[in-house]
Amino acid sequence: MPGTAPELDRGVFRHVLSHFPTGVVVVTAIDGTGDPAGMAVGSFTSVSLDPPLVAFLPARTSTTFPRIRSSGSFCVNVLGSDQEDFSRAFSVSGGDKFDGVPWRPAGSGSPIIDGVVAWIDCEIEDVAEAGDHYVVLGRVQDLDVLSGRSPLVFFQSTYRRLSQP
Ligand SMILES: Cc1cc2nc3c(=O)[nH]c(=O)nc-3n(C[C@H](O)[C@H](O)[C@H](O)COP(=O)(O)O)c2cc1C
Repeated sequence: MPGTAPELDRGVFRHVLSHFPTGVVVVTAIDGTGDPAGMAVGSFTSVSLDPPLVAFLPARTSTTFPRIRSSGSFCVNVLGSDQEDFSRAFSVSGGDKFDGVPWRPAGSGSPIIDGVVAWIDCEIEDVAEAGDHYVVLGRVQDLDVLSGRSPLVFFQSTYRRLSQP
């Protein structure tokens, strides 16, 4: 029937989509109580050059995203291939994810984690609902590359590294 999508198997959906590789970033902010907040994200993407916009998609179930949202800004930290531990630490819900993690504040105050490949400091431009996720648009305020190291890659539910040509 037109307009009626077939019921999709969740496992098949996840399996097929896991064949699309992503980078891994940690999206950070300073919450309303002055504490650093962060979450590992694979759904980060560049959106627009003029104006300069980027986006990421946090799950509605995320306990960290409301803290990021309330701050009105966030910093995207692009993880290097040797920073798998940071991805694991920032993908666990609860606890002090910044325990033992060295960082300095970006212009917005959001944490730039030591040793990341690159960082992008943003103001939240818009938050749209998208099924069980949100689409968060960020207007880029400042950004830099910290090292020419290789990025961390996530593919088929496994951390990968780029092979050099
Ligand atoms: C490689 C990787 C990519 C992830 N990408 C996303 C994402 O795009 N959106 C999201 O909501 N969660 C993503 N997660 C899971 C979140 O990091 C995790 O659910 C979140 O940190 C849970 O903690 P919270 O309750 O503090 O938000 C990803 C995790 C990993 C390991």
